[in-house]
Amino acid sequence: MSEFNNEIWFVGAEMAPLVKAGGLGDVMGSLPKVLLKTGMNVRVVIPYYKNIIPKNLIDIREVYPPGKVNFGEIPFDFGIKTGFAMGDIPVVLVEQNHFFNREDVYGSHGGVCAYKDNLWRYAMLAHGAVYAMRILGIPLVVHTHDWSGGLVPAVVRQTFGDEKVRLQGGTEGILNAKLGRHVNAKGLRPAIVFTIHNLGYQGVYGIDDFYDIGLDFKYNSSSAYEHFGTFNSLKGGMKLSDVVTTVSPTYAGEITSPGFGFGLDGELKSLKNEGRLKGILNGIDLDYWNPKTDRLISSNLNLNEDTYKLKDYGEWKDFKLKNKKALFSDISMPMKTGDNGEVLPLIGIVSRLTEEKGINEFLDALFNWSDFPFQAVILGSGKDYIEGKANYLSKIHGDKVYAMTGSYDEALSHKIYAAADIFVMPSKFEPCGLSQMIAMRYGCVIAAGDTGGLHDTVSDIMDAGVKNPSGILIKHTSPDGIAWALNELYNRYIGDGAEWGSLVVNSANKHFGWEDSAKVYESLYYGIIK
Ligand code: ADP
Ligand code: GLC
Repeated sequence: MSEFNNEIWFVGAEMAPLVKAGGLGDVMGSLPKVLLKTGMNVRVVIPYYKNIIPKNLIDIREVYPPGKVNFGEIPFDFGIKTGFAMGDIPVVLVEQNHFFNREDVYGSHGGVCAYKDNLWRYAMLAHGAVYAMRILGIPLVVHTHDWSGGLVPAVVRQTFGDEKVRLQGGTEGILNAKLGRHVNAKGLRPAIVFTIHNLGYQGVYGIDDFYDIGLDFKYNSSSAYEHFGTFNSLKGGMKLSDVVTTVSPTYAGEITSPGFGFGLDGELKSLKNEGRLKGILNGIDLDYWNPKTDRLISSNLNLNEDTYKLKDYGEWKDFKLKNKKALFSDISMPMKTGDNGEVLPLIGIVSRLTEEKGINEFLDALFNWSDFPFQAVILGSGKDYIEGKANYLSKIHGDKVYAMTGSYDEALSHKIYAAADIFVMPSKFEPCGLSQMIAMRYGCVIAAGDTGGLHDTVSDIMDAGVKNPSGILIKHTSPDGIAWALNELYNRYIGDGAEWGSLVVNSANKHFGWEDSAKVYESLYYGIIK
């Protein structure tokens, strides 16, 4: 007889502060932290990568016995470790050196050059996670993420069966840690929640790959992973889960249309009609991303209240100027002033450099602009041609543009958020976007694509109905569209200060924490097991 351990298990490919390649890492670190605070029992399962930051992982223990899985004819041994990530989040780590002892999370250049065997790597994560459940107690809910967590629902079902746990005589708050373990006499499976963070990455492989990742062959069907003759990890993950969520309300609507659905819009539309697709806005960790206490920036914000007034703009101006000076001295770029004697506004970019992010078009906007009245600091890695273009721009405009490409640099990202006046994120699609939320927390005015989570979080200065604008929404991610938006912001920046000041203060007042969305997740978990 097994038992339910009254836990919610997150399974995914990354988790800050242990290992992070992008926003998924932030979410896997920050949402569990808030759920734990509300009294829920949460654990996070990720691979035991070589590049986990050791000081952020404590109390590591080996779980016995180690596991084994056959991928086709080849047996693979793996280990399970438990421990705590900084912030006291319980973690389970799947250790398999052949797959996880590598330099990068998904592959080099921010995952753009993906490892060829990523399907096998994340199949290993799924098998390891479910094996750990058998040993440590079956959770009530498995919350798995993205295509890399897309094999988890199949392994859960083939291990525990299709019949899902239901709490008899359940009361609200059953997920509370105090309620102890539940006997799982029938060996039921946990409920499964699947979150899509980005539909642009689906984990598509050849159909033959079914036969060597340890999945039951019955999942080679269009009601699971088969998709027009291919193996589609994301599709199967969706089909075999009880509820699918995505990371903003607008994106949840967009992905049911062909322009954003990447071939899965039909499936997503059906899920939506069945009431099984929900858009829940992400939050950020407001303690970690805090301009008053951030130790990675050179000067902290000197204000006590968290609700800023227009009169506080002076402090914000001071904060920006000090951090700008420090950043410019780090990167040896001169601080430039414009015709009117104002320090030129600093544009910040912290981004994966892929097509979807619109940075290529942003670079073209600056190339086309004979004497652009901005300075820019760009941090990002991704596609070679975009990295190359950023580096070339910084070569020909050395006094105005600095580019740090091909690397992931947490400390520099904080410095950019703190120093930048304008944060640019002209995405063509953006499931949620955390960078703009972080940038707003640090008092940046935003220029963003009018899509997905950007639409849900940036209040547009051009929209007369908006009360407290925090930036500008770019209708078309083209060089001209971006130049138009930057020009609009520049005109406000050089104005009398009051309009710019209110933009900065509005932005910093947005506070995109997790509290509200964590409550929505809690009732969603409860709703599928009650
Ligand atoms: P995505 O997950 O699509 O890349 P998000 O806006 O959701 O976009 O999250 C990006 C996260 O990754 C943010 O926390 C951002 O600061 C961080 N980030 C992106 N690129 C880098 C980089 N090169 N160095 C440091 N942090 C980065
Ligand atoms: C993905 C999306 C991004 C989102 C992040 C966290 O990487 O591209 O928009 O913010 O996941 O959910």
